[in-house]
Amino acid sequence: MKIVILGDLLGRTGREAALKAIPQLRETLKLDFLAVNGENASHGFGLAPDMAEALFAAGADAITLGNHAWDRREIIPYIAQEKRLIRPLNFPPGTPGSGASVVTARDGRRVLVAQLMGRLFMDPLDCPFQATEGLLGRQRLGNGLDAVLLDFHAEATSEKMAFGHAFDGRASVIFGTHTHVPTADHQVLPNGTGYVTDLGMCGDYDSVIGMGKEPAMARFIRKMPGERLAPAEGEATVCGVFVETDDKGLALRVEPVRLGGRLRPEMPKV
Ligand SMILES: [Fe+2]
Ligand SMILES: [Fe+2]
Repeated sequence: MKIVILGDLLGRTGREAALKAIPQLRETLKLDFLAVNGENASHGFGLAPDMAEALFAAGADAITLGNHAWDRREIIPYIAQEKRLIRPLNFPPGTPGSGASVVTARDGRRVLVAQLMGRLFMDPLDCPFQATEGLLGRQRLGNGLDAVLLDFHAEATSEKMAFGHAFDGRASVIFGTHTHVPTADHQVLPNGTGYVTDLGMCGDYDSVIGMGKEPAMARFIRKMPGERLAPAEGEATVCGVFVETDDKGLALRVEPVRLGGRLRPEMPKV
């Protein structure tokens, strides 16, 4: 399968760039499946149901969230009836929505999409490694699943790489989100799982991880409360990875996708 996953959409500029890029990427790269992270789509905080609808209509097959999952409360009733929208699996038992869903691609193939949240420098949560062991014990690549996509939403690169290796060979691709800066370590791990530590955000890179740079700098320099953070609104760079899988659902290649805005463009050849 040919799959693209785009990183955290940051505010209006990120959302609009992604809405424009999704149909183009589907066409140019002959994609079978496309997923995006939507936790910062609404002015940097959360995702509103109409924004999710627009992303599905543009051609996203699945949307993952993260620590900002509930910032727009309207998403709570919506997520209960939309299984293509996925929040962290290791949220407390009884949390609305699902942390893992089997999503049907346009050609009928079955793709398991799950999100786990890391615990270093993050809210305390149940163990993401144990939660993933449980999930992949019940649902196996090849056994009715054509691809397995794991979004590891975490702050620390060490925890992200450890997670990648822990499930190498049992997922098609494991990708990091949350830190909003694309890493250059995209690779196929030894047992065949595609991996990247962070996809990077879809947002304005003349910013501090997507937010306006002046108030963000002031927080560090002055150590005093200041102006509220708001998304930087210059042209967004759409960032993500392209993964091609074999008939076992393991990765043949992982390559960066970047277009628009300030970062150097990257587009895989198909
Ligand atoms: Fe984020
Ligand atoms: Fe996050």
